[in-house]
Order: sequence, then structure tokens, then C-alpha cells
Amino acid sequence: MKDGKLGFGIIGCGVIAPTHRKAIQACADAELIAVCDIDEAKGKAFAVQSGGVRFYRDFEKLAVDPEVDVVCVCTPSGLHADCVIAAAEAGKHAFCEKPLDIDRGRMTKMIEACRGAGVKLGCVFQSRTSPDNIKARQAIACGTLGRMVLGDAFLKSYRSQAYYDSAGWRGTWALDGGGALMNQGVHGVDLLLWLMNDDVERVFARCAHHVRDIEVEDTSVAVLEFKNGAYGTIIGTTSCNPGEKRRLELHGKLGTICITGSNIVRWAVTDEDDGRAQDVGPPKTVTDEGTTGDNRAVTAEGHVWLIDDMVRAIREERDPYITGESARKAVDLILAIYDSARMGQDVAVHE
Ligand SMILES: NC(=O)c1ccc[n+]([C@@H]2O[C@H](COP(=O)([O-])OP(=O)(O)OC[C@H]3O[C@@H](n4cnc5c(N)ncnc54)[C@H](O)[C@@H]3O)[C@@H](O)[C@H]2O)c1
Repeated sequence: MKDGKLGFGIIGCGVIAPTHRKAIQACADAELIAVCDIDEAKGKAFAVQSGGVRFYRDFEKLAVDPEVDVVCVCTPSGLHADCVIAAAEAGKHAFCEKPLDIDRGRMTKMIEACRGAGVKLGCVFQSRTSPDNIKARQAIACGTLGRMVLGDAFLKSYRSQAYYDSAGWRGTWALDGGGALMNQGVHGVDLLLWLMNDDVERVFARCAHHVRDIEVEDTSVAVLEFKNGAYGTIIGTTSCNPGEKRRLELHGKLGTICITGSNIVRWAVTDEDDGRAQDVGPPKTVTDEGTTGDNRAVTAEGHVWLIDDMVRAIREERDPYITGESARKAVDLILAIYDSARMGQDVAVHE
């Protein structure tokens, strides 16, 4: 805490770190105090660019800095749990990039560490902050589409071989934890679960790397059975050239909502039990998160929204907008998709 503001530290000074810095700087109640990276030159340069904040090479040291109240975790995905647990053990709140982690046991430990220490664990899935996505979720949750029948996510993005070669952890099982789904597609998987307002019971899937020289999948297809009985599909790839905007198609007995990018493009409903749904036209909001083909093109609005919520959650002693329990659902589903593809049979989704 400094001058009544919550002090933030950022662990991992790579591609996404400037977005966290921007969001912290945009929040009147937050101040960036320190940054950390195992790459000293990179971390120190980021500290200087951030106004001469403190630099640490060791994330445990950043976590015990007395002026740091909240730790932003921006390291490779397979290190998220270690950083969050270090923060919790130091009595600090954690704000963790997606995916929560890449391992079921570690996700359980990081959630328990934060709950046990009485600190907040806020997670980044910025698509949940876009106005059209919120509108769609509210409509489905209050029954506007009636009983849900199908939920489909088409997550066809593009990442070049140069992208995968740009950092040693990308495209590895150990630190990326997967490919097209665990890294890029996880946003759409999370959104599908959140919009459907339901969990998936079972999956059947195929995964492969067709065109990239990586350990993990660049393409996957999955058939889903939701707990409420609805079916769904997820098609996730980083090998569509040049890549398509993310599309979600949500169908219930009484209507359909389709979302392309972050915009609702179809909203058709009926209020008659056996009626044909009529297009009532999509709402006019236009937003663009810009992540289809370029990992450097993430706009900051979602992070600004979520950092502001994180600060208010701490002040108001409530859960952040996206809790660890909620953020892990997408990862648990993706891990089940990988299990199914490996075993060649359908599998149950479990934590
Ligand atoms: N929300 C989004 O849209 C979004 C976009 C991009 C990345 N991400 C997520 O952010 C995370 C980082 O991705 P990135 O693209 O910025 O990666 P990156 O490789 O550009 O940066 C990661 C940084 O972490 C540092 N690092 C590695 N091990 C460390 C350790 N033990 N201690 C401290 N620093 C360490 C690396 O040196 C590197 O500078 C990933 O989990 C990724 O999924 C989210």
C-alpha cells in the first residue's frame, strides 16, 4: 500500500505485461510498485519504461515486497500456480493471466492457497467484460432462449511458426500446456461455458498438429455433452490462414444468439412455445478484442475493467468478477478434450 493506493507487482515482463501496466495505470486506486523477470535485461528495461519501479529477478522476493499488495501473474502458463501460491503465502492478492494453470492438481492448490490465506484470486478472461457477451449471458441465464439445445464455438485463429519459435515455452506441454485450445482457444472455451451457463459432462475429441512444428495441437475438434443435456462443438485451431473471427452460436428451443468477435450478429427469439424465432436485430455495440491473428494485438479495455474490479473486490471484501473456481472450468474441459483425443474415446470432465 502506498499513499492509500493498492500496490501492484507484475511477474513476467513479456508480451502481455504492458497491458497489465496500462490497466494498473488507468486505475486511480492502483500503483505499479515492482516488476520481476528471470531475464534480467528484459525485466530491468521494463522497470525503467514503467517509470523506474523496483526490479526483482525472483518472484518470491517481489511477493514479499511490503508495498506490493497485488501480484499480476504474466509468466508462461505452466508457472501460474507457483507464482499465485507464492503471493498467497506472502499474504498478497493475485491477478492471474489465462489459463489459470495447465494442471488440475496445481489449479486446486492455487485456489486453496488463496482461500486459505484469505486473499483474492482474480483471473483474466477479458471476453467476459465485453458488453455484448454480458448481454448474451444475461439473456440465456434468464431463459430468453428457452431450454438450451446447442452451443458451438468456432475458434479459428492463425499463429505462424515464427510465433511458436518466439519464446521457448510456446507450443510445449510443460509450459504452454497445450496449443490452439489451451493458449488461444481458452478464451472461447471459457466464453462458451459462461454463456451456456452450464458445465460439460462428457467430451469426444480429436487433436493434432497438422502444420506447425510443435509438441501440442494446432487443430482440434470436440463434441460436447452439457450437464443439462444440450450438445455442443468446439473447433479450435491456430492454423487457419489468415484466421477467422471467433464465432459462437447458441441455440435454445426459443431462439438463437450468434456472436462474431465480441459482437452479437444474430438475436432471434420467440415467446410462443412452438413458435418460429424472429430476428430482432443485434444490439449496436461494436467492440474488438483483436486477437485473431496476432498475440500482440490484445486491446487493454478488458484488462482495465478487470483490474478495476480486482481493486474494488479487495476494498469491498468480495470475490473478484472471475474467481479461480470459475476460471478453471475452461482448463478442466480442455484437459478432458486432450484426454479424449489421446485415448480415442469419450471421457468425463472432472477437476
Ligand atoms: N489475456 C490475453 O489475451 C493474453 C494474451 C497474451 C498472453 N496471455 C497469457 O500471459 C502469459 C504470458 O504470455 P506472454 O505472451 O506475455 O509470454 P512471454 O513469453 O512474452 O512473456 C513471459 C515472460 O515471463 C518471464 N518468465 C519466465 N519464467 C519466469 C519466472 N520464473 N519468473 C519471472 N519471470 C519469468 C519470461 O522471461 C518472459 O519475459 C501466458 O500465460 C499467456 O497465456 C494472455
